[in-house]
Amino acid sequence: MAKKETYSEGRATVSYNPDTFINPIARPTRDIGIAIAMLEDPKGEEFRALDATGGTGIRGIRYGLEAGIKDVTILEINKKAYRTAKRNAAANYPDAKVVNTSIQEFANCSREHFDLIDLDPFGGIVPYVYDIMKMIRDNSLLFVTSTDSAVLCGAHYRACIKLYGAVPLHNELCHEVGLRILTGYVIRTAASFNFGVEVLAGFFYKHYMRMHMKLHYGSAEASRSVDSLGFAGYCNECGYRGLYKGIAPKAHKCPECGAELTLSGPLYIGKLKDDSLLNAVEGLIEKEGMAKESVDLVRKLIGELDVPLYYSVPKITKSLKRGSLSPARLIETLRDAGFSASGSHMGPEYIKTDAGIKQIIGLAAALLDKQGAAPDERSETRKK
Ligand SMILES: C[S@@+](CC[C@H](N)C(=O)[O-])C[C@H]1O[C@@H](n2cnc3c(N)ncnc32)[C@H](O)[C@@H]1O
Ligand SMILES: [Zn+2]
Repeated sequence: MAKKETYSEGRATVSYNPDTFINPIARPTRDIGIAIAMLEDPKGEEFRALDATGGTGIRGIRYGLEAGIKDVTILEINKKAYRTAKRNAAANYPDAKVVNTSIQEFANCSREHFDLIDLDPFGGIVPYVYDIMKMIRDNSLLFVTSTDSAVLCGAHYRACIKLYGAVPLHNELCHEVGLRILTGYVIRTAASFNFGVEVLAGFFYKHYMRMHMKLHYGSAEASRSVDSLGFAGYCNECGYRGLYKGIAPKAHKCPECGAELTLSGPLYIGKLKDDSLLNAVEGLIEKEGMAKESVDLVRKLIGELDVPLYYSVPKITKSLKRGSLSPARLIETLRDAGFSASGSHMGPEYIKTDAGIKQIIGLAAALLDKQGAAPDERSETRKK
């Protein structure tokens, strides 16, 4: 018999074994979803939650125990993992229904609908989203986790085109662009079922891309959310980047230097978070004593400017060939010059700002002068 271990998180203590996957590092992806669910006030008898890819069943169990959702269903395709999830549900939240089946079979045979669906598969979400849509109803919450960053970030370029129907961007912007491609894919699939997607909060944490959404039924809702699709344009010559609206891209020239832009998409071009919701999530996560990493992540999200496409400070200083700059100092300088600027939760070296690339480079150069940084002789030598 496989060796059993136990793991506690929130109000749940679950057993796991080599056949039943759980990763403690993914905790913020669970805490934040549970806090968003709690804010929906889902205690009524009719509110139904689905943990579509159960593993140990920890998400479903926590939706029951902590968010107070009475009607919880947990799906698990793997027989051995199903047995573990069933035991864990019995020990923690006996009201949860655990089913040994696949999302696809359940969606097509059960005709059940849910107010919250959490999809957390191994790898990408693409094989499941179409069937998930059959179980959505008006105003349902949909939370998805993706761990196929290599695809969404363009390391497997053709796989992204094949799976997501989108061209990735294989450079430093890939985490935000990948999250936007993922969201765009959900929007396109939801629209084909006449659902519009409201983005609540999305993030990239460790190797997890996570997006929390609310779906609204109706033709107008679906059309409105399709209007939030577009493309990212990136200039390899001068570092300009921007988002463009529209499902069919026109050839774009860089507005700064006239070079041909590299295009990526279709992808979601709207806001990545709702700050009033995140403020409430922060309060709740603290009150409930959830993980410090979750509080830290939510705080970073709240402090982040919600403008598209971050800048990499090392990439900017490299282009200037003069020493390095602290992202915090560049943020301060941008603010002093009247721009909005912040860090990005996607990496300590990234900044977000409403300044354009020329303005950022000008201010970075002035700051480097002020810092009295010596010319980067090594890169000059390498050129010769
Ligand atoms: C990443 S694990 C889930 C981890 C869990 N949600 C957590 O937070 O700890 C993914 C699980 O989905 C199950 N799975 C894979 N394909 C599935 C399908 N088509 N339907 C239902 N479950 C599936 C796998 O057996 C695996 O246990
Ligand atoms: Zn350019």
